[in-house]
Amino acid sequence: MGLDIYAQEGQTPLDDDEREGLLIRTITTRGELDEFEQLGVEKANEWLLGKKLDVNKILNEDFVKELHQRMFSGIWRWAGEFRKTNKNIGVDKFIIGIELKNLFDDGRFWINNKTFPEDEIAIRLCHRMVLIHLFANGNGRHSRLYADVLINKIFGKQYFTWGSKNLVKQGEARTRYLNALREADQSNYEPLIEFARL
Ligand SMILES: Nc1ncnc2c1ncn2[C@@H]1O[C@H](COP(=O)(O)OP(=O)(O)O)[C@@H](O)[C@H]1O
Ligand SMILES: [Mg+2]
Repeated sequence: MGLDIYAQEGQTPLDDDEREGLLIRTITTRGELDEFEQLGVEKANEWLLGKKLDVNKILNEDFVKELHQRMFSGIWRWAGEFRKTNKNIGVDKFIIGIELKNLFDDGRFWINNKTFPEDEIAIRLCHRMVLIHLFANGNGRHSRLYADVLINKIFGKQYFTWGSKNLVKQGEARTRYLNALREADQSNYEPLIEFARL
């Protein structure tokens, strides 16, 4: 299958095994895959709607995996499973779980001590999570929905807007988003926080 559709800027390329994990054999184009994935994200959002979640439940490996699984199950066989290969972004595959636990410890501290404003805590957790890069793909979408869960379920605030544009497609909004992430890589979180509320 000529599904070389992740060779775009800021995307994680899939290796052959990961491509093999595509469960819907009729998908042949990037656009079709995007649509199926978007439906999955919406399903995950419905699942979240009525769900009561607190800090302990959200800052938890099982929850993070279940969220990815709810987003991409039926599309990718490896939905909800940590990646088994190294990527152009992210920590070594063997330390994903440890890095995530460190992140949860930091996040719990920030929340308990109000170290940063609420939006900033959610954005820092989201950005650190996408830097760890838990999964073979879908990390950007997963980390953004995770930040929405944090801000909504823990702090009782509205979901982020994430630039109010489709960030999966190439375009101005995605470029601005990637630039804001690169600023956050340098510990400047302001552009990403601002972008998330545009
Ligand atoms: N320099 C960077 N710093 C932090 N995150 C980045 C950087 N470059 C890309 N990303 C994140 O990685 C994501 C791409 O990973 P991927 O697993 O393909 O997620 P998705 O398929 O949801 O886009 C981007 O959407 C972005 O969120
Ligand atoms: Mg991707």
